[in-house]
Amino acid sequence: MKLFIKKPIAQLMAAAKETEKTLKRTLGLGSLIALGIGAIIGAGIFVRTAAAAGEHAGPAVTISFLIAASGCALAGFCYAEFASTIPNAGSAYTYSYATMGEFVAWIIGWDLVLEYALGAATVSIGWAQYFNEFLNTFFGVHIPYALSHAPFETSNLHTGMYAAEFGTRGIVNLPAIFIILMLTLLLIRGMAESAIVNNIIVIIKVAIVLMIIGLGWHYINPMFHTPYMIPADAGIVKVSTGTVNYADTFNHGWLGVLRGASVVFFAFIGFDAVSTAAQEAKNPQKDMPKGILISLAFCTLLYILFSHVLTGLVSFKDFLIQGKEASVTYAIKASMPGYGWLANFVTVAILAGFSSVILVMLMGQTRVFYTMSTDGLIPPIFSKLHPKFRTPYKSQWLFFGFVSLFAGFIPDRIVGDMVSIGTLFAFVLVCFGIFILRRTDPGLVRPFKTPWYKIVCPLGAIICLCMIASEGWENWARLFGWLIIGFVVYFGYSIKKSHVRKGLVEVPADPSSPNFME
Ligand code: ALA
Repeated sequence: MKLFIKKPIAQLMAAAKETEKTLKRTLGLGSLIALGIGAIIGAGIFVRTAAAAGEHAGPAVTISFLIAASGCALAGFCYAEFASTIPNAGSAYTYSYATMGEFVAWIIGWDLVLEYALGAATVSIGWAQYFNEFLNTFFGVHIPYALSHAPFETSNLHTGMYAAEFGTRGIVNLPAIFIILMLTLLLIRGMAESAIVNNIIVIIKVAIVLMIIGLGWHYINPMFHTPYMIPADAGIVKVSTGTVNYADTFNHGWLGVLRGASVVFFAFIGFDAVSTAAQEAKNPQKDMPKGILISLAFCTLLYILFSHVLTGLVSFKDFLIQGKEASVTYAIKASMPGYGWLANFVTVAILAGFSSVILVMLMGQTRVFYTMSTDGLIPPIFSKLHPKFRTPYKSQWLFFGFVSLFAGFIPDRIVGDMVSIGTLFAFVLVCFGIFILRRTDPGLVRPFKTPWYKIVCPLGAIICLCMIASEGWENWARLFGWLIIGFVVYFGYSIKKSHVRKGLVEVPADPSSPNFME
């Protein structure tokens, strides 16, 4: 049995050609960068920065961002090389099918569910927090704690809008399910965000981050930045979800900073979404690498400045208690007198901004499964198109159910960690993929080449592996469990149905394709 059977690159190159039946190539460099930033800036910066600072890194969360960014940048080079070499939809799954073979492609495709589907779930939980903040600010009401939190969460030690609900246990996160439902309906109708809508949301998101940095800078209290890392003697602190053990090595000092990096890594996820749009790019071979790397560099700079300001406004310990939810508005209200309007603006803009991230994630998920389904690796239901809207509506509904289970019933900390570990794992495979491909296929036409690949690829993989290591055994077990389920599906179903294996993949004679001979 050839486990590593490959999909012919010639077939992929032919499929990448624009015809009347394919997606239109309309996206220029500006739109690609906007797409990247649209998918990148979301719950990571507005929710998980505070969690990483509060639980692991303290104000040194800025260094956590630098570590996460360096892992992403190195993996980003590898993504850019793949995207320029094989400018097709399907992202890492498609690249690996052509280069590392079906089994690795399967692992990546299956693993991407953690990134996209669970990513949508995590951001929808963040959306629910800010939605409650919105209701509270503008209408003086809020959805009860039990109906806006997962069963494993309790409202102990809550203040603010949940002050009267001490000790309430969550039942289901209804607002999170609600936003997933709304966006699923939009996607089914084919009303995917247009480049224009995305551009507007991106301008709003970037404007908020810049405003918080610019206005908040004057309110930084140096006292909150000292000490910069959480000291080992901080001990055990009681918080709403139980206790945080600052004596734990991954919750203070440099190891805490590393653990923080794996948490805020979430904030960078999405730059690879640019590569899912390869088939809609006007000049993919030049613009994809630029789109990926420029959006990544831009967001890194914003994140470091933003986290410096956020941790300078209030003590990082606040992010475990009063500022645990809607932490950015909490920090503004607590430390920036006269800027209530900014807090309100932030709340509304974050709701819009999170929606676009969820939309891109839900769409990315169904696209990857659509491609896998057309390859025969998963059932045809995932590529069944709506007769009128021509969207994968059945797949969209199935993922609505799947994503809602996580969004409604699991705390964001756990779902977010699963997203991070799943994506890190995909990045490791992509780094290895480029390294292997350079050796096995040196003649492949590569419009963009990863610089110093002998250093960049292994280093990218090592940094991502270090972040995976810091996630702890519970997260490794979750990733492992998910992969085991994947192996059962692969050996029980996919291997028998694979179109490539059955010889159902046509390899058109297209000598104009630069990589045809491959
Ligand atoms: N990077 C995206 C976010 O932070 C997933 O929401």
